[in-house]
Amino acid sequence: MSQTLAREDIESLLRWYVDQGIDEAIGEAAINRFAAPPPQALPLPALPPAPVAPTPIRPLPAAPAPPRGPVPIESPQLVEDARALAQRCNNVEELEAAVRAFEGCALKRTAKNTVFADGVPGSPVMIVGEAPGADEDRLGKPFVGVSGQLMDRMFEAIGMSRERDLYITNILFWRPPGNRTPTVAEQAVCMAFTRRHIELARPKVLVLAGGTAAKSVLDTTEGIMRLRGKWASLGLDDGRAVPTLPTFHPAYLLRTPASKRQSWLDLLSLDRKLRELGIR
Ligand code: URA
Repeated sequence: MSQTLAREDIESLLRWYVDQGIDEAIGEAAINRFAAPPPQALPLPALPPAPVAPTPIRPLPAAPAPPRGPVPIESPQLVEDARALAQRCNNVEELEAAVRAFEGCALKRTAKNTVFADGVPGSPVMIVGEAPGADEDRLGKPFVGVSGQLMDRMFEAIGMSRERDLYITNILFWRPPGNRTPTVAEQAVCMAFTRRHIELARPKVLVLAGGTAAKSVLDTTEGIMRLRGKWASLGLDDGRAVPTLPTFHPAYLLRTPASKRQSWLDLLSLDRKLRELGIR
């Protein structure tokens, strides 16, 4: 039996899709249906000759040529290429230009923008999150959606802001379609840039927002429940080490408000560390 959905039902279904991260009418890669091979015809038995001349069929317009250029697929060689490119950068501006020009991460094909960083480079605190979401992809800046607004309010509570003393980035510079968890290969390619990003931004303290960023930056399989609130030391390729604090992702706090208590303890611990280092 066919059923007609009411407008409110359609709207609530669409809202549910958006809540689940399904907010793009695309797959991970565009499909050029003109370039796809024609479907295989089934062999038919031979027919007797037609009694009348067939109507001529107008030819279809020529199919557009498939896009040219390198096809980005993450590979160990691409990670090496990214590392070499990043090492050649001498400051954050050069690194940003290198990331924007990089074609070795397939996520770039479906993202609207490269999301590099926000805040003040050289700030004492650098926050590293996971990946841009829909709002960040649209606006080209990290943590500008609802979870970013919560993060801003949390740091304001200890007197810090992205306008004054925070520098914010993600382990990925492009939004994964539908906000899916980034693959290990995508993380590895972007991490080559992120490690150099941390070296060049020279934060006194690093804050890792969420399990994916914490695992990726600290190169551990330990989960965020065990990692959060415990100071680690991140060794950089230039020989320095940065005190690093994993904490819950603000999106997790929005879903689990009871965990805000632990995040508040993490913020107090960050404040104490900055005082110990003579920064506040
Ligand atoms: N979540 C992240 O991890 N980063 C952003 O920039 C936005 C949401």
